[in-house]
Amino acid sequence: MPVETINGHRVLEAVNAALDRHGASREELIPILNQVNQALGYLPAEALSEISLRLKEPLSSVLGVASFYSMLSTRPRGRHVVQFCESAPCHVAGGREVWETLREALKLATDETSPDGKWTLITASCLGICGVEPVVIIDDDVYGNLTADKIPEILARYS
Ligand code: FES
Repeated sequence: MPVETINGHRVLEAVNAALDRHGASREELIPILNQVNQALGYLPAEALSEISLRLKEPLSSVLGVASFYSMLSTRPRGRHVVQFCESAPCHVAGGREVWETLREALKLATDETSPDGKWTLITASCLGICGVEPVVIIDDDVYGNLTADKIPEILARYS
């Protein structure tokens, strides 16, 4: 069986590492998918099939979970993933202006990746930090109490 290489990581190695860490149990499906997603940058079809096989979980369920959570992706993403919270509390607190500024600055629509592979822009429902709305998460960095005028300076931190 050919072993595909993505982002310098082998798909099978990434799946094995996630199963070693979390155990081949369907209850661990989300952490397993999350670890493989982090290792490869996304969840390629080969990884999903392998996980389905090893957990004895139908591929449709594995795909369903992989498609449901915004932190997981079945398509390649940019080097930096910008997650914008589109839930009501953030929206009411000025999220709309932040969203428009983000879209214009990145020249992307939801779920798009820039042609240079630098950015992917996604929306998510409540990111769990409503006390500091509106909220944007870039990779693992959380930006709360955001205003549109802070966006250019924040984006400039990423290369
Ligand atoms: S509503 Fe935006 S973080 Fe909760």
